[in-house]
Amino acid sequence: MSDEYKDPVVLRHVPSTAIFRDDIFKGKVLFCTGGGSGICFGMVRAIMAHGAHAAIVGRNAERLQKAAAELQQSGAHGARCIATPADVRKEEALREAVRKTVETFGRIDFVICGAAGNFLAPLEGLSSNAFNTVQQIDLMGTYNTMKATLDELKKTHGAYIHITATLHHTGIPWQAPASAAKAAIESLSQGIAVEMGPHGVRSNCIAPGIIKGTEGAERLTPKGAEDYISASIPMGRPGDVDDIANAGVYLFSDAASYITGTRLIVDGGALHGKSAWLPYPDSSLNQKEVASVVLGSKL
Ligand code: COA
Ligand code: NAP
Repeated sequence: MSDEYKDPVVLRHVPSTAIFRDDIFKGKVLFCTGGGSGICFGMVRAIMAHGAHAAIVGRNAERLQKAAAELQQSGAHGARCIATPADVRKEEALREAVRKTVETFGRIDFVICGAAGNFLAPLEGLSSNAFNTVQQIDLMGTYNTMKATLDELKKTHGAYIHITATLHHTGIPWQAPASAAKAAIESLSQGIAVEMGPHGVRSNCIAPGIIKGTEGAERLTPKGAEDYISASIPMGRPGDVDDIANAGVYLFSDAASYITGTRLIVDGGALHGKSAWLPYPDSSLNQKEVASVVLGSKL
């Protein structure tokens, strides 16, 4: 693999503030489940960098409080962040978190449903409680969050982003519970888009590929697989948290005001890279060598 391909500097993300004005979300309020860590923490940070206040939801109150303090430090235009601890499986706890958010900031414009649980386990090693636990956190958690915030979003003509995945777009071993849950969330999002469009509310999904430096990547990729994974991704690298954050800024911005009911896959082309039969990326970078083993090649 050429060094240029290993380090495709020109293909790296730029901060959203280099593209969008830093005050586009001034006066707006974000409610984000899973915002205390990983991908969703990065999304909240990016949206606050454009001026929005935020409330973040998770079960671990201490970690959440620390994350809220860190996020508040990095916000622009006086953006504030509060911790509203809740388990997304508990509808009343979520409603309380929403009440606290509206009491503090007066409104909710944007909702990210990002809380999730996942682990690698084969079907034969799953109990029904294990399967159900993932459905309860991912799918019912998304449903509960939507139900608790819908009235507020109708008032502000707001928008949802649900964080799904690409697992279920093909089928992948040892990930049946999360695949089933994320597929259902994408369906639910389409239902929200159709029923709530007439109220001015949008609903979309972001489907991340593998995002480095996150709990998900730690849990779901085998140790030592980074080179092999990078080689199968057309963009030549795993995603960064900021790649997903930038997609979130775009989908909440007015630039996406006609986009609803869809999913934005942010995976560096990984889904397509996986389907390569020829050696990859050599079929792009070392074509003569690959042609030598291809019957009838005229290269
Ligand atoms: N393989 C098989 N089953 C597993 C498992 C594994 N690796 N990990 C948990 N389970 C099973 C448990 O054994 C239990 O089933 P049982 O009662 O039949 O034994 C069931 O799942 C629930 O586990 P429990 O630990 O009680 O659930 P929880 O609600 O405390 O935690 C998890 C939920 C398991 C999803 C936990 O990993 C979590 O909190 N994850 C959040 C962070 C995360 O996953 N981040 C990555 C997002 S991609
Ligand atoms: P993460 O840091 O573990 O994020 C999950 C968050 O959800 C945590 O902050 C956790 O906080 C919260 N959470 C879990 N269960 C909860 C519950 N019952 N109630 C309330 N909050 C709960 O993992 P991540 O990798 O950044 O994943 C973020 C999202 O991206 C998830 O939806 C995941 O499926 C998706 N995704 C990740 C990747 C990846 O490569 N990382 C790829 C595709 C999709 P508490 O533990 O404090 O509750």
